[in-house]
Amino acid sequence: MASFDVIIIGSGPGGYVCAIRCAQLGLKTACVEARDTLGGTCLNVGCIPSKALLHATHSLHEAEHNFAKMGLKGKSPSVDWQQMLAYKDEVISGNTKGIEFLFKKNKVTWLKGWGQITAPGKVTVGDEVHEAKNIVIATGSEPSTLPGVEIDEKTIVTSTGTLALPKIPKTMAVIGAGVIGLEMGSVYARLGTDVTVVEYLDAITPGMDAEVAKSFQRILAKQGIKFVLGAAVQGVDKGKSKNTVRYNLRKDDSAQTLEAEVVLVATGRKPYITGLGLDALGVEMLPRGQIKTDGHFSTNVKGLYAIGDAIIGPMLAHKAEDEGMAVAEIIAGKAGHVNYGVIPGVVYTSPEVASVGKTEEQLKEEGRAYKVGKFSFMGNARAKAVFQAEGFVKLLADKATDRILGCHIIGPGAGDLIHEICVAMEFGASAQDVALTCHAHPTYSEAVREAALACGDGAIHA
Ligand code: NAI
Repeated sequence: MASFDVIIIGSGPGGYVCAIRCAQLGLKTACVEARDTLGGTCLNVGCIPSKALLHATHSLHEAEHNFAKMGLKGKSPSVDWQQMLAYKDEVISGNTKGIEFLFKKNKVTWLKGWGQITAPGKVTVGDEVHEAKNIVIATGSEPSTLPGVEIDEKTIVTSTGTLALPKIPKTMAVIGAGVIGLEMGSVYARLGTDVTVVEYLDAITPGMDAEVAKSFQRILAKQGIKFVLGAAVQGVDKGKSKNTVRYNLRKDDSAQTLEAEVVLVATGRKPYITGLGLDALGVEMLPRGQIKTDGHFSTNVKGLYAIGDAIIGPMLAHKAEDEGMAVAEIIAGKAGHVNYGVIPGVVYTSPEVASVGKTEEQLKEEGRAYKVGKFSFMGNARAKAVFQAEGFVKLLADKATDRILGCHIIGPGAGDLIHEICVAMEFGASAQDVALTCHAHPTYSEAVREAALACGDGAIHA
């Protein structure tokens, strides 16, 4: 038996960041992880591998569609799928080893195995019981599938299976037009798969600014992805060479089917808390399955905290990371804090889509007086030079005070551009503050400044 100041269960972005910060703050720290590698879903079967495949297939798209225009002639590259998967695996292993290195460097003990909280302050891993003054649950989430759909991770897959299909399918049905469905749908569409996305709602990417979502859908459709919206999937029948997705169109309740070699079920995720022993401890839960916490990540059990996908809030790696750092600081007696009003969201398709703060729909609902500054990438020289002028920046600011309330970008590098506005919002900046800041030319970021100018006397290149 060993005893620690903090034991963190789970080594995803929430857990490993929390562990490193705890150790940096002088706490004797251990992190329990049952996988052979650290990093959780994000590094092993989520954010990172999907970005590798998105990068590889985006490069293919560039070669097929834009190289000749730039005078780069010759045959487009052919796809060696096994090599692409090997590249993806190498990216994973580089990153997971990186965390192992950081654990060693910061003297975080990796307790290998399945962690169970057997009593307050006690974590059992395998045959050993460890003691901790504080325990942090950072166990993340798992795919939440649909009734009538049996996942085999071969031809009826979640995001995990879609990252390692044995071959590129000819047809794919994606259930759910959320982030996973659209990112992985994009990967396969670029590889030549005929991709159809079936979505319950009448728009893609629920919660996204409606104008951006509409433009996003139009761009993806142009890239060859088909959409069936307003369609409630009832089940999937497994066939020998094809699966059949059964759905009802909500407008007339008519029953429809769609055949596809591979079906990706991307209908959301749910907290992963199986086998942790929470029932026996009497840990309070929320109606939708998350662990209930107070404003300081504390559960109703003294010394037991929870962060990330296992608690309420957006299921995003960076939200978990921020909570991991904040709870470490709270445990160390400092003032840990997360500003939930400034958490960016990014979809890593091409073009990328990024947002922070309020959408126009939210502002309308709140009855707030706001102004919109919009700028199209068609007016951005850099974007035009690299064939990425589709999309726009939309900045929302308070009508009276000019304070920035939200920003929504669809276009090149959107996932990086959004952070200028995140920082501005953290400082309570006005659109004018961004508009008066010199932006290097020629960069995509000039489009952000132009949107800020459009909140005032007008953009220059519009
Ligand atoms: P999601 O919650 O983003 O989207 C699920 C979609 O499935 C919704 O649009 C929903 O209306 C639809 N749906 C649900 N039941 C349906 C049915 N019976 N028939 C048809 N459509 C149905 O979930 P997703 O894409 O699985 O992602 C899970 C989580 O992972 C999300 O919280 C997401 O934010 C996160 N994630 C974030 C990424 C990023 O930040 N780039 C990347 C991947 C995942």
